[in-house]
Amino acid sequence: MPKIQKQLHIGMTLAPTWLSGDAWRREDSQVERLSDPCFFIELAQRAEAAHLDFVFRPDSLGAPPPGMAKRPGGSGSDPTLLMTLLAGHTSHIGLLTTASTTFFPPYILARALMTLHWLSGGRAGWNIVTSLDGQRNFGLAQMPSADERYASAAEAVQVIRALWQTCPNGAATIDRSAGLYDSATIAEPINFEGAYYQVEGPLGAMGHPTPLPLFQAGASDIGRNFAAGIADGTFAACPDKATAIELRADLRRRAEAQGRPADAVRVMPGLSLFLAASEAEAQELYRETHAGTSRAQKLAKLTAMLGFDLSDWEGSRRITAADLPPPAQGVRSRTHAELLRRKIARSEPTLDALLEAPEVLGSAHWQVIGTPGQAIDAIRDWADAGAMDGFILFPGGSVPCLDLALAIIPSALAEDGRFRNGYVGSDFASRLGVATQ
Ligand SMILES: Cc1cc2nc3c(=O)[nH]c(=O)nc-3n(C[C@H](O)[C@H](O)[C@H](O)COP(=O)(O)O)c2cc1C
Repeated sequence: MPKIQKQLHIGMTLAPTWLSGDAWRREDSQVERLSDPCFFIELAQRAEAAHLDFVFRPDSLGAPPPGMAKRPGGSGSDPTLLMTLLAGHTSHIGLLTTASTTFFPPYILARALMTLHWLSGGRAGWNIVTSLDGQRNFGLAQMPSADERYASAAEAVQVIRALWQTCPNGAATIDRSAGLYDSATIAEPINFEGAYYQVEGPLGAMGHPTPLPLFQAGASDIGRNFAAGIADGTFAACPDKATAIELRADLRRRAEAQGRPADAVRVMPGLSLFLAASEAEAQELYRETHAGTSRAQKLAKLTAMLGFDLSDWEGSRRITAADLPPPAQGVRSRTHAELLRRKIARSEPTLDALLEAPEVLGSAHWQVIGTPGQAIDAIRDWADAGAMDGFILFPGGSVPCLDLALAIIPSALAEDGRFRNGYVGSDFASRLGVATQ
């Protein structure tokens, strides 16, 4: 009998990370299918066949980074509308969409998210983001500061929850002759008056009796407090195990301090995978994927994140904490800048090594370059160390990598009791163990 383990939650991104860098140029990349919505239906169905908890789609409301214009795109498509399509072609898998409180009014968000929840039979989830850019698409010269974005996000969540309370979420009691239509939820105004929003309500959209799980991304001090107060899960950038252990322990403390159970926020790091039959092939896949990113591009990213220019440094020179200026104000993402500074302080890497690190080359996610067996060992190791409650798969480099991830990882973890062996029930909240809203 396998030992009973704490079960992990597993999600998979629907952002086409397997086409990232130069990977789309491979013969087997299936890049032609990116414009076909059926491709995403197939992916969601395959994720469901592997019994994953959810598929996930990040979002961007800004221009692609410079140099990306000639690469496959599509990240601007609306994730919530995409999830609505997937809802009609799947029956159990959770549908975690991303939507920004910085640019969308809460009434619109409440309506779109609850409509997805209703249409999918309780399978919607919301990754609450406050956005890194996109201001010029909304008539703003500058992004509001991160602190202000979180303050308005907290208020938006309050309004949205209040609006959701006004949604009828079950069969109504109907007596035609008495002229009675009682939907059990009294759709009354909420009359919310806050610092950022004034909303009358009610929403009046059809609802669903199960809670709609809330995720969050962003791990600055204020981001963590926000997560600890309202989130059921966090999509975390954790390039190493120590970072994940610290984040998870910290969120547990902060959740308790806000009167929630310690395990209220499930920590789900992104897991960037470059998988192949042998480690050498996986390394080659990784090298090939990033071969087209020039040293100048990597240096530019490093400079922007650290706030100082390293372009005249020797590649063999080590960078230490003493070399770093004070944390730059107005960096694009404080979370990512802080992860990079911590890496430098801890491991004092050479410039050459730093330029190849996931914090610079990718999105600072946990990364396994190797065989599926090595990925499974790493997952067991992080789970046993209390570093996470699950993870989100980011297959990189090739479609065969995605195939290996789906075919091998969930079933291997199910064999040793760390993952479900199928679906019980079909709503997202009960699968995550989210009881109330
Ligand atoms: C891992 C991670 C993923 C994110 N994904 C998105 C996203 O898909 N869309 C978006 O608009 N913002 C995204 N963000 C930005 C955050 O919502 C937030 O605006 C930003 O991180 C600033 O918060 P911080 O100071 O806590 O880092 C992401 C941030 C992190 C750390």
